[in-house]
Amino acid sequence: MIIHKIKELREQIKEWKKQGLTVGLVPTMGALHAGHLSLIKKSVEKCDRTVVSVFVNPIQFCPGEDLDKYPRTLDADEGLCNDAGVNIVFAPSPEEMYGRGHILSNDFLTYVIPPYFYVDKLCGKSRVGHFDGVCTVVNKLFNIVQPDFAFFGEKDRQQLIILKKMVNDLNIPVEIIPCPIVREESGLALSSRNKYLTEKGKDEALALSKILFNIKMCYNKGIKDVKALKETAYGFLNNNHTLEYLEFRDKNTLEEKLTADGDTIVFIAARVENVRLIDNIAL
Ligand code: PAJ
Repeated sequence: MIIHKIKELREQIKEWKKQGLTVGLVPTMGALHAGHLSLIKKSVEKCDRTVVSVFVNPIQFCPGEDLDKYPRTLDADEGLCNDAGVNIVFAPSPEEMYGRGHILSNDFLTYVIPPYFYVDKLCGKSRVGHFDGVCTVVNKLFNIVQPDFAFFGEKDRQQLIILKKMVNDLNIPVEIIPCPIVREESGLALSSRNKYLTEKGKDEALALSKILFNIKMCYNKGIKDVKALKETAYGFLNNNHTLEYLEFRDKNTLEEKLTADGDTIVFIAARVENVRLIDNIAL
């Protein structure tokens, strides 16, 4: 079933809560692929009822980003959700979420702003305000759906860490369930933005996962020095890649690591055919 209105969704949720049913939420921006479906599967298995939100959230896009061309495939998404056993697809309009004539600035909207230490690095560095938009919309979705469990992918690891921090700091009564990265057989992490790549671009994009897998292999062989591990990456890069960052950080606090250990995540972002791609791996 698809619902576009908050009021209608709330009535349904109220009914479920009255019956004592547990509710899982899988927030997405649609263009669903096997990565999203892995989260949905987990929710359907774990919870009595599952809500998938499909909302291309305008306030998490920075000026000049791909808000207008972001793939919107609601009919297909709804079909995939139905097949996966989802109870409700919640697909609000921007007006429904932010009000009519919404002016997307913090002069007109109450924002949830994560701590500066968590957003001044990695994706937050180039995408200023992005995580304010993510935290604000996810907080709204939590308030609308009141889920017992919410499912997020490790593909967007900085987002996952920031959302866990938000839930903890604001005592939001939801349990966040992290879900592993789903990859193509080639190693490429699935992403809605892969659609922007040509076949050649997809081949070039393999450099990201190759770099991460190679770093993990070197780490397992005993190399712990981050500088040395970083140097192993350059052999995989050529003129078709613009590396944005390759960083080693703590899995909970995002503090930088100079020596890699079992709490380290390696984060990478690069542009291929001007498409911004991200990936990460836990050591
Ligand atoms: P979106 O990019 O659509 O992703 C929705 C969820 O699917 C996120 O939790 C993301 O980490 C997960 N996901 C995407 N690709 C994945 C993959 N290959 N393997 C595992 N999980 C994957 O992330 C967002 O939307 C938005 O920021 C959102 C949280 C919905 C807020 O607007």
